[in-house]
Amino acid sequence: MSDTPTDLPILPLPLKTRRLTIREYTDDDWPAVYAYVKDEPFWKHQAGEPPTEERVKALIQWAVREQKISPRINYYLAVTETKSEDIVGEAVLKSIPPGHGQGEIGFGIVPSLWRKGYATEVSRALIDAGFVTLKLNRISAQCAPENKASIRVMQKLGMAREGLLREHYRAGGKYWSSVIYALLAREYEKIKTNTSR
Ligand SMILES: CC(C)(COP(=O)(O)OP(=O)(O)OC[C@H]1O[C@@H](n2cnc3c(N)ncnc32)[C@H](O)[C@@H]1OP(=O)(O)O)[C@@H](O)C(=O)NCCC(=O)NCCS
Repeated sequence: MSDTPTDLPILPLPLKTRRLTIREYTDDDWPAVYAYVKDEPFWKHQAGEPPTEERVKALIQWAVREQKISPRINYYLAVTETKSEDIVGEAVLKSIPPGHGQGEIGFGIVPSLWRKGYATEVSRALIDAGFVTLKLNRISAQCAPENKASIRVMQKLGMAREGLLREHYRAGGKYWSSVIYALLAREYEKIKTNTSR
């Protein structure tokens, strides 16, 4: 028996962090996204290869269409620097399958701005929103085992390593493995109580 609800809580967007704003995409955003996803460094540890302009345009159009879908299960969002309003990355929060308390996050930052703590800031906001607003029970994230930066972000969130999916995905002419990290709601509550975050 499925528990699929017809109404799910909705994220109150934009989300604000100390330096960043996480907001809905608009159709006009695709050139700013293409500007950083077209470069090799962004794909070094990700399954796939730099997309074409057309693919990025289609992705942003899809993200905009998802904004109207109810119940909303896909949040594919723009990350901007609050001061400049420039797009500096992307934030993903999926609640799939809906009604089962499961969420997945993803994040990417413009390579010229790596190691400033932006991904940590974004992912903390997604985790807070996922547990507090969407009332999820488990939030996971996955990346290639070689993606040290992404793994470090997951560890900083307090996520535990759950396993390794070996060569489960084929992209760019080769097989990719993924490590899976996750945090449960009760663990999140403990972290919140024990630290000021
Ligand atoms: C993964 C990614 C989002 C990290 O972004 P970021 O803004 O540089 O991350 P942060 O600055 O918040 O750093 C988080 C931690 O990772 C560490 N780190 C960053 N880059 C690292 C690297 N190349 N190797 C090892 N550790 C690294 C930082 O030092 C920091 O840890 P610390 O606080 O203990 O020092 C960024 O590298 C990226 O966009 N990569 C391409 C897309 C991608 O791989 N997304 C994740 C897959 S879902």
